[in-house]
Amino acid sequence: MSRIFIIGGAGQIGRRLSKILSGKDHSVRALYRKPEQEDLLRKMGAEPVSGSLTELDATSLAAHMKGSDVVVFTAGAGGKGGLEMTNAIDGEGLKTAVAAALQAGVSRFLLVSAFPEALRGERVSDTFENYMRVKKMADVALVQSELDWVILRPGTLRDQNGTGLIRAGLAIPYGEVPRDDVAATLAEIIEQPAVSRVIIELTAGDVPVREAVQKIAER
Ligand SMILES: NC(=O)c1ccc[n+]([C@@H]2O[C@H](COP(=O)([O-])OP(=O)(O)OC[C@H]3O[C@@H](n4cnc5c(N)ncnc54)[C@H](OP(=O)(O)O)[C@@H]3O)[C@@H](O)[C@H]2O)c1
Repeated sequence: MSRIFIIGGAGQIGRRLSKILSGKDHSVRALYRKPEQEDLLRKMGAEPVSGSLTELDATSLAAHMKGSDVVVFTAGAGGKGGLEMTNAIDGEGLKTAVAAALQAGVSRFLLVSAFPEALRGERVSDTFENYMRVKKMADVALVQSELDWVILRPGTLRDQNGTGLIRAGLAIPYGEVPRDDVAATLAEIIEQPAVSRVIIELTAGDVPVREAVQKIAER
């Protein structure tokens, strides 16, 4: 049984992850910021922890994380609030979370990042270009830390039901992936601590999640 702290806990991936982990008897604490999300998180089996990345500093976030074994960062501004919010949540928020994990002595840190080929060749907004830059710099900040990190780069997220079948590797072709399968992959990575200090690209595929993660653990 592990104690997991999810930042972005009420998000589409965060809530799925809470449900999977609590169903496997892990203890889950989930950071959320809207009062109406508290009940939802309890239903997902997580203990809700109220707080916003725009207000918490590293010390106060560390106090929330203390006693956890793993931090999962799956927060993001989602394009809302323009460049400023992307910088604050996906960028500075991640740096605050890394500093907090170091302060709290939580060494394992999983980050949901973005697939570098996202929307390549298509006309994209300045907001999206900035988002991709910020996501990459967040990866850089985490990789440079002393933490036992894992970066997961899913392709385009879809809400269709998961299949439990994925393609995961250090470099794979770009594609889509159901959020259910992203959450299942994160849960499996948590349960396979040999997966460490690696950047994993993820799409839908034909390999069962456990097997795909095991392959990365054994590399
Ligand atoms: N969309 C894609 O195709 C795609 C592809 C690859 C990677 N990603 C990345 O995947 C991650 C998760 O995706 P998702 O679908 O789960 O997104 P989501 O549903 O938008 O979840 C993001 C979470 O971050 C939270 N958040 C935003 N601002 C915050 C703040 N100030 N303090 C604390 N939490 C805050 C949101 O809280 P609220 O619920 O209060 O807004 C939300 O719960 C994102 O980081 C995204 O960049 C997305």
